[in-house]
Amino acid sequence: MSPGSDGRSADTRGELNRPRETLLAITDYRLAFDSFDGTAQVLDGVSLQLAAGETLGIVGETGCGKSVLARSLLRLNPAPPARVVSGSIQFEGTDILTLSEREMRRLRGRRIAMVFQDPVSYLNPLLAIGPQMTDALRGQHAAAREAQPSRAEARARAAALLASVGLAEPERLLASHPHQLSGGMRQRVLIAMALAGNPALLVADEPTTALDVTVQAQVLALIAGLVRDRGLALLLISHDLGVIAASCARVAVMYAGTIVEEAATATLLRGPRHPYAQGLLAAVPDLDRPDHRPRGIAGSIPNLLRPPPGCRFHPRCALATERCRVEKPLLRQVAPGHNVACHHA
Ligand SMILES: Nc1ncnc2c1ncn2[C@@H]1O[C@H](COP(=O)(O)OP(=O)(O)OP(=O)(O)O)[C@@H](O)[C@H]1O
Ligand code: SF4
Ligand SMILES: [Mg+2]
Repeated sequence: MSPGSDGRSADTRGELNRPRETLLAITDYRLAFDSFDGTAQVLDGVSLQLAAGETLGIVGETGCGKSVLARSLLRLNPAPPARVVSGSIQFEGTDILTLSEREMRRLRGRRIAMVFQDPVSYLNPLLAIGPQMTDALRGQHAAAREAQPSRAEARARAAALLASVGLAEPERLLASHPHQLSGGMRQRVLIAMALAGNPALLVADEPTTALDVTVQAQVLALIAGLVRDRGLALLLISHDLGVIAASCARVAVMYAGTIVEEAATATLLRGPRHPYAQGLLAAVPDLDRPDHRPRGIAGSIPNLLRPPPGCRFHPRCALATERCRVEKPLLRQVAPGHNVACHHA
């Protein structure tokens, strides 16, 4: 899929997702993983904001820390080895890093819901969809210390949720086992389960990577529709700029645990300012130009046990100077709503 291939400009999507009050504010968040080999500085001072109803994509190569960041929002990184070094993650005005585990359980799935790449891993192959959904629904009420719905009530709600994500014959699906469903149907089931608690924020980590291109487009359209109709905020993680461009008004580019550029999606696609973002864009095939030869970025992301000093991208950057090798560039505004972390952007 090429950027903007849904036929609408990202600016138009921005209008549809006009921001309201701040929902999520990540400030200078640092997370490390400790091991016998040393400490990997996996997230190195991430700052991001997301308004209610806003859509933000996070893009970057494999190993950049996208999933670790997504899991941080639900405090799902196993600790140890994960260790929060500094920073805060304010969600609806509360720093989730200060919440007790019980308070966190109330938040998960209710205010913040998550959809993962591989639905198979999150569905029990031995159980029909119905019992899995009703257990999850009743479990959410139990975690919030609310009266649990009866099994019949939970099943009716599960059927309604399946219908709301475009699945026909929900009653038949509730009686089916995961292997009887296609990949796209399984992902819709997981999205339905994510919506059960009426979340304010949906975090989707590579939700379509395991699907073929046609089904990918359908699931992205479903997510876009849900975001629009329910006023959900969306944090969509992908290594594919095309997927982000089709779904998000704003995009943050991540490299080796840092945000290196953040802008309206249309702005970034028109003119990325960070050399890494420029490299990512140059690597996307342009279907409208058969003569276009996509170029990859030479080298690979650094070992985060021993990240390069200064700018973490400098060993791969053609523009690197001595300053880049010693001084870490901070994210700074280069135009309204457009931030770049580069000494020479
Ligand atoms: N539980 C863990 N223990 C130790 N290191 C971890 C753990 N989870 C992730 N990491 C490390 O954190 C870094 C970032 O991983 P992450 O999964 O967030 O990358 P990603 O950007 O999501 O990549 P991909 O596009 O492949 O999904 C990697 O170096 C990974 O090895
Ligand atoms: S700070 Fe220097 S090394 Fe880093 S991206 Fe900018 S020019 Fe390249
Ligand atoms: Mg990942």
